[in-house]
Amino acid sequence: EKTWRIGVAGLGTVGAGLLTFLADRPDFAPAGGRAVVTGVSARSRSRPRPFDISNLPWFDDPVALATSPDNDVFVELIGGSDGPAKAAVEAALKLGKPVVTANKALLAEHGAELAVLAEANGAPLVFEAAVMGGVPAVKMMREALVGDDVNSVAGILNGTCNYILTEMEQGGRPFAEVLAEAQRLGYAEADPTMDVGGFDAAHKITLLAALAFGCAPNFAAAEIEGIDQIELLDIKMARDLGYRVKLVASADRSADGVLVRVHPSLAPLSHPLAQAGGALNALFIESQRIGRIFVQGPGAGAGPTAAAVAADIADVMTGAVRPVFQRPATTLRPFTPVDPSKS
Ligand code: HSE
Repeated sequence: EKTWRIGVAGLGTVGAGLLTFLADRPDFAPAGGRAVVTGVSARSRSRPRPFDISNLPWFDDPVALATSPDNDVFVELIGGSDGPAKAAVEAALKLGKPVVTANKALLAEHGAELAVLAEANGAPLVFEAAVMGGVPAVKMMREALVGDDVNSVAGILNGTCNYILTEMEQGGRPFAEVLAEAQRLGYAEADPTMDVGGFDAAHKITLLAALAFGCAPNFAAAEIEGIDQIELLDIKMARDLGYRVKLVASADRSADGVLVRVHPSLAPLSHPLAQAGGALNALFIESQRIGRIFVQGPGAGAGPTAAAVAADIADVMTGAVRPVFQRPATTLRPFTPVDPSKS
């Protein structure tokens, strides 16, 4: 029986969820082999945690963990599009070491170059947890929908914003109070501006667009508006008119290129997107042969996100290696932005 040695960098919400999962499931052996954590790295070693890391090999520097010969898989849960996360992922890929990451910012901003590096070195680079938490949206796009041509994707991709909008409407509660609660529940990013400013949803829709259309992710081309200007009055007025305010992320392909947008939208109360409340995420996909697919489920929080990371570790263990995006990195189409005023 093979033992897969896992190095985990980052012990925030997702990292803690993964270690809890692996501790609860010592029998987790999707490919017949076992997964054992053989190294961890985080900002603070001594911070109180609900699990014990005192017996695990500790690395101050995530790059040292990523390049350590004592692990076979590097799991990056640090977050952030640059800095230590990027350095560590690059270092692992250069060694041909499989990388599992939940880092949507990193992939939305540097995904194309990382995909080239991964594929040139024969290293799997997988990121199911980066989009829609527990909903297997990346797998669906990368694996199931390669047999079709996607026209558009649209949905709710940020659990924190959806939670805030839902609680403001249902409880009449102020924005700041609900945001603080979303942080306590482990939904929000370390910097919640990423959530409420629409940037997190934009990272995710950029990745879905790349997967759906076989193009290089291009975060800089996204049109972004968050929910930070939404007031209780807006929500009440929308409601009186039969609508619900939702932060919708969409990607459309046309002959001219790709249009990626995130903005608050009015969803008719009977629409499935209006009915996805709390921290749920939801997604519509429209394609030429299959037609319409709708999925929804938990998009944030330790449990769902850690489950997605564990599923990626399982894929690495079983040897299921695919191109990082929908097609080999060297053949990705350019992601040509479309001027939204002309759509
Ligand atoms: N902050 C993110 C959200 C976490 O609220 O959706 C999951 O990516």
